[in-house]
Amino acid sequence: MMNNKGFDLWADGYDVSVGLSDEANIYPFAGYKQVLNRIYQQVLEKGSQDVLDIGFGTGTLTAKLYDQGCRIWGLDFSARMIELAREKMPQAVLVQGDFAQGLPEELRQQKYDAIIATYSLHHLDDDAKVGFLNTLLFLLKPNGKIYVGDVAFETRTELEACRADSGEEWDDEEIYFVYNELKEKLSGEVMFEKISHCAGIIALG
Ligand SMILES: C[S@@+](CC[C@H](N)C(=O)[O-])C[C@H]1O[C@@H](n2cnc3c(N)ncnc32)[C@H](O)[C@@H]1O
Repeated sequence: MMNNKGFDLWADGYDVSVGLSDEANIYPFAGYKQVLNRIYQQVLEKGSQDVLDIGFGTGTLTAKLYDQGCRIWGLDFSARMIELAREKMPQAVLVQGDFAQGLPEELRQQKYDAIIATYSLHHLDDDAKVGFLNTLLFLLKPNGKIYVGDVAFETRTELEACRADSGEEWDDEEIYFVYNELKEKLSGEVMFEKISHCAGIIALG
């Protein structure tokens, strides 16, 4: 599993490498821009003001919400990712920390209209994902929502088909969302939207 230093090294080339995989419509980032666009639209359509981004990376999605007037809080463990994101969002509260340890106190003191996590939570195993997401629900304002956009599949059969197609590109260290296996364990109303052969959005709230 890549640690924060690995993400520091990837940070400057991140947007380009993700864009290439998305444009070629191949695993792991096929559908990436569409995932971010869908979440962006849904967050703004609901009139969200206060937004928390877990694993915000270079801030591609949150910086757009910031430009629309949202107040942004974020958590990431890569110092370089934080630097890049801070350039785009100088007023955002960007905290360095490991979400595998839960949410730092200063982020737990707020309530949010939207909590987003794109391409980050596949670093947690399924029990940890469920535990973490269920605790985040307590930080939502009334009518708030959590949006998880990631490499995600409705069923394990779809995941296995993608693994077979991807050959050596498949990353065995990442633990992707299989919606059918997680939905009963997640609290609240849960929905899945398939975006590409390897991407989807799970919304809960
Ligand atoms: C693949 S990038 C996704 C970035 C951005 N959300 C996007 O959609 O482009 C994953 C991000 O999550 C961060 N990350 C991964 N594991 C983390 C952890 N355990 N705690 C905090 N941040 C983590 C990485 O530093 C990186 O910025």
